[in-house]
Amino acid sequence: MRLLVTAGPTREPLDPVRYLSNRSSGKMGYAVASAAAARGHAVVLISGPVALPPPPDVRLVRVNTAAEMLGAVQSELADCEALIMAAAVADWRPVFIAGQKIKKHAGNLTVELEPTADILRHIKSDKGARLFVGFAAETGDPLPAARAKLQAKGLDFIVANDVSRSDIGFDVDHNQVTLLHVDGRTDHWPKMTKKETAERLIRELELAVKAQSGGAAG
Ligand code: PMT
Repeated sequence: MRLLVTAGPTREPLDPVRYLSNRSSGKMGYAVASAAAARGHAVVLISGPVALPPPPDVRLVRVNTAAEMLGAVQSELADCEALIMAAAVADWRPVFIAGQKIKKHAGNLTVELEPTADILRHIKSDKGARLFVGFAAETGDPLPAARAKLQAKGLDFIVANDVSRSDIGFDVDHNQVTLLHVDGRTDHWPKMTKKETAERLIRELELAVKAQSGGAAG
């Protein structure tokens, strides 16, 4: 398969030295890209700014902002059979980006934010026969919001994780996820390394592609 994977945070600039972002390290998305490449798939990894080495046998496209990630996804999607959006895309960005560093001054600074483009919603109509997999980062029980996102974003699967826990989710080597299928099936996976979680996710994807093509693939 040809797979498109996104990973890491995006950074939304406020001025030349400051930005709005989140705690994503890229570990989950990089693990997915590595697991897919290790299974012999052709992988394009679109990565926000992270401190990880490029995974072997993967074509890496680096981006910073949500708008850049959207552009990269749009230009790579046509050649891919599946998209896995593990990136933690910023949901808002500053309306105005100052050209010079905003000087410190007495009192509060009010920053107006506007929504970024929702990448998955934006490309929903280009899905065709491709498999789309999202991740849902929630605090507390992730399942109700994950189910809603699965439907709203037109996904085949969503991988739900509770990012309020310190032992899984953001910037650690483990995750504990629930895989929600579009047909309503719900699989609770045990706590595993992100590598193991990624390997299992790639196997699920391979099975889904095989089922979609009537068992002819793989
Ligand atoms: O990077 P790590 O430190 O390893 O952490 C892993 C992780 C917690 C970031 C990862 O497991 C995860 O949950 N990624 C998704 C984070 C997220 O943005 O979730 P969300 O529930 O806000 O978004 C739902 C889906 O919509 C995601 O697939 C997201 O990529 C996508 N999205 C979100 C916002 C946006 N503007 N466009 C999008 O396409």
